[in-house]
Formats: sequence, C-alpha cells, structure tokens
Amino acid sequence: MLGARGGWQALRRCSSSLPRAQRAVRLRVREALGAREPAGDVKVQGWVRSVRSQKEVLFLHINDGSCLENLQVVADPSLENRDLTFGSAVEVQGKLVKSPHRMQNTELKAETIRVVGPCDTWSFPLKLKKRHPLEYVRQFPHLRCRSNTLGSLLRIRSEATAAIHSFFQENGYVHIHTPIITSNDCEGAGELFQIETSNEAKESAEKTHFFNVPAFLTVSGQLHLEVMAGAFTHVFTFGPTFRAENSQSRRHLAEFYMVEAELSFTESLQDIMQVMEDLFKTATNTVLSKCPRDVELFHKYIAPAQKTKDRLEQMLKNKFVTISYNEAVEILKQASQTFTFKPEWGCDLQTEHEKYLVKHCGEVPVFVINYPYDLKPFYMRDNEDGPQHTVAAVDLLVPGIGELCGGSLREERLPFLESRLQRLGLADAYQWYLDLRKFGSVPHGGFGMGFERYLQYILGVDNIKDVIPFPRFSHSCLL
Ligand code: 4AD
Ligand code: MG
Repeated sequence: MLGARGGWQALRRCSSSLPRAQRAVRLRVREALGAREPAGDVKVQGWVRSVRSQKEVLFLHINDGSCLENLQVVADPSLENRDLTFGSAVEVQGKLVKSPHRMQNTELKAETIRVVGPCDTWSFPLKLKKRHPLEYVRQFPHLRCRSNTLGSLLRIRSEATAAIHSFFQENGYVHIHTPIITSNDCEGAGELFQIETSNEAKESAEKTHFFNVPAFLTVSGQLHLEVMAGAFTHVFTFGPTFRAENSQSRRHLAEFYMVEAELSFTESLQDIMQVMEDLFKTATNTVLSKCPRDVELFHKYIAPAQKTKDRLEQMLKNKFVTISYNEAVEILKQASQTFTFKPEWGCDLQTEHEKYLVKHCGEVPVFVINYPYDLKPFYMRDNEDGPQHTVAAVDLLVPGIGELCGGSLREERLPFLESRLQRLGLADAYQWYLDLRKFGSVPHGGFGMGFERYLQYILGVDNIKDVIPFPRFSHSCLL
C-alpha cells in the first residue's frame, strides 16, 4: 500500500491532460488521513458509515477497510441524493484539506459524489451508529466484515499472519507448504475428516478409494515438517488444519489455522519452549505496534472486564512460568476447589485444571512439561525416567483459554520408535517415518500453536468463532 508520501508523489506525477475525474489520484482512507499536505484532485472510494445533512453542509463518513477510522467528507448539500445512504458504496472526488476538527488531520472537500452501489438501509442488517454484539453479526457471515469489530479483527489477523511469517523467516526457517490431504493421523486421536468423492459416498458397498487408501484432511503438518527438518534444519508451516471435534465449544473449531515449527539438532525441550515464547512475544509486539487502534477497540469494548491490556503488557515483560506435569497434579490435588474431573497422575488435564493452574501461577502463561507416556502420541521422546513413564512433551497454557501450544522432542532413536509403533500396530503404515530415523537421524523437536486461540488470547475474545473470517458450519447460512 502507498504510504502518505507515496500518495503525494503519485499526485504530482499525474498527467494534467486527462479529464478531471480520471486525473484524480486514488487514495485509500488511511493514506488520506495520514497526509501531511493538502492536495487537489484526489478520489476516495469506500462505503458510507454515516450521512449527516445540515442546511449549509453535508457530512459523510466513509470507510474502505484500510483502517478503523473513517474519512470525513464535507460537501455542498446540493450533492446529496437519495441513494446516498448508510452502507452505500461511493466514489468521492475533491480536495483534501486540513480539518478544523481536533480529532482528525484531514478531510475531503467533495466536488463530486458518485454512488457506485446503493444499499437498502431498511433490510441491511447493520444499522447506523450501532455497536452490534458479536453474537448478532455472527448471523451474517457475508456482511459482518463491514462492522467495526470484524474489520479490526481481520486487519489484526492479517498483521499477525505476516508477523509470524517474518519471525520465522528472520530466524532462518524455511517455509513449507505441507499437504492438506494426507493418509496419516499425526495425533492418533481419531478426530479425522475422511475424504471421499461424491460417487464413493453414494456407492458405499465395495468401496474403492480415490487414492487407493483412505485419505483425510490433515490434523497437523508435523510429520511432513519432520521430513523437511531432515534437510533444512529449521522449518515452519502455517496452514489450515481440521479436527472432527465438537465445534460448539468456545475454543474448538472444525477448521482452524496452526503455526508449526520443527528444529533439528535440538536436544533440549527448553530450546523448543524458548522459540514458542519468542514467537509469541515478537508477534504480539508487532501486532500491538502495527494496529494499536484496532487492538484498542477489543481491549476497550470486547474484553474490558478481563483487563486484557494490562495482562498482556505484564506478560510481554516477564518470563513464562514452567512446571512439570507431576507438579501440576500435586497443585491440583491440594486445591481447595472441587473439580468435575478428579486430578490423578496419568489422566489428561481438563480445561478446569488448566484454568486452575494458570490462576495458581498468577494468571500468566505456564509451560507444563514431561507428561505421562501413555497420554501422548507415538512420536514423543521417551524421557527414560522409568519404564515408559514420561515423555519430553510441553503444553503452553494461557489465561482464559487453556492450551495454546503443544510440542515435544521427537523420538529420534530407531529402536524406541519402532517398538512403540509395533505395539500400536502402526509400524507398516509408518515405514517412511521410520526411514527418517534410519538415514541421518538427529535429535529434534517442534511445536504447534493454534492461531485462533492466539488471537482469542491477545484480544480477550470469548468465542473462537469471532476470530475467524467466516463462522463456518455454525449457522444455517453457510458460505
Ligand atoms: O496440541 P495439538 O493437537 O498438537 C499438534 O497437532 C502437534 N502435532 C503440533 C506440533 O507439534 N507440530 O494442537 C496444537 C494446537 C493446540 O495447542 C491448540 O492451540 C490448537 O492447536 N488446536 C485447536 N484450535 C482450535 N480448534 C481446535 N479444534 C483445535 N485443536 C487444537
Ligand atoms: Mg495438544
């Protein structure tokens, strides 16, 4: 996007032999608001956020999604027409002048206003000057991006995506596109969506698979990343993942984005945890500095009671806390609170346990490490602290959400991995994975972070469906 300066340079370059409307230089609202000098012959395109008609003057506010703020347009009342309503798409051409208004730098003095697309305000679900609750706009997945809240969310999501990519690229990781259709169940939890052609679905008897083997939507790109870590040392992927889980919960989606990294020549779980912490802090600092107004909207109006802003600032300054799974179970056993699921060594930590642990540690992010062997997937490294007792696993728990990241050292020793896969009856299916341990195996590890849960946490959003562009499969109105 052009900066304010770029906009002005383009203005000077433009040919004066063209008809006036064509000569005008197009500016985004963000550029117009950031301009340092007045200028003639500019045009701005966007959607009307308010219309106020007075005897002497007509005021419009227009927004084009480039920032949260609207550009004020000042016009002669003769330019008003009946299609110029809230929600309509317009092109305004005129002069950019210094605004007398304290809250804004510039305003557009309109010479022409063209309604590009009218909007029937009566049936348009968004209403003028209304702060619509997230639950309300969720009913209109095709229109909610035009509300302030979703506009801010989607700009933040875009900046956070870029920040995550930059973090890895700047630290020497190679980005890999891992497959979306795959035959492996990385997590082994059976939460898979199976893929079949529409013909296969009809002809259920004597089924032949399109790929000759059952194929699924990926639950994680990890195993494919491990392949690449065997050539590039440090790799990452950031793509859609799918789980056939209860997507009615506030923190589960059937389709979500996961950031995953894999590091070769890494013997210590602490090294993996350091990358998780650095990624989290770097991406968050970037988002806070690149979209302060968008983030402020969330902290002020969506999550004020949770003091998300203060909590976030504190968290960015301090080191994350680490406890072992053993310690976690002891803390839970000694809690005065009664849990629905009784905490026992060997049982998975439930959301209620995760929340208690985070509170116990002072409402800060907490790494829980070294989980029971039987709780975790086949690829995690045996700690050899007893016969198949614990593995070098780590979960990062954060306030209000619970688990944000999961990672581990991977079992790089062929005999350990082979016998575990054999016990699980998976040795044939994972011959290729065993090959990675036969040919130049190195100690390595990695992790995955749920992108939507990350956004939920930094913005204080209660329902995970409000941090995705389209609230898929939650309403009758599917896109
Ligand atoms: O803990 P998970 O299952 O870890 C893995 O898939 C590893 N293979 C990752 C790796 O080591 N490369 O998932 C990682 C994270 C979770 O901590 C959670 O934040 C998020 O993905 N997640 C979900 N987010 C939204 N909806 C769901 N249904 C999710 N399931 C997991
Ligand atoms: Mg996990």
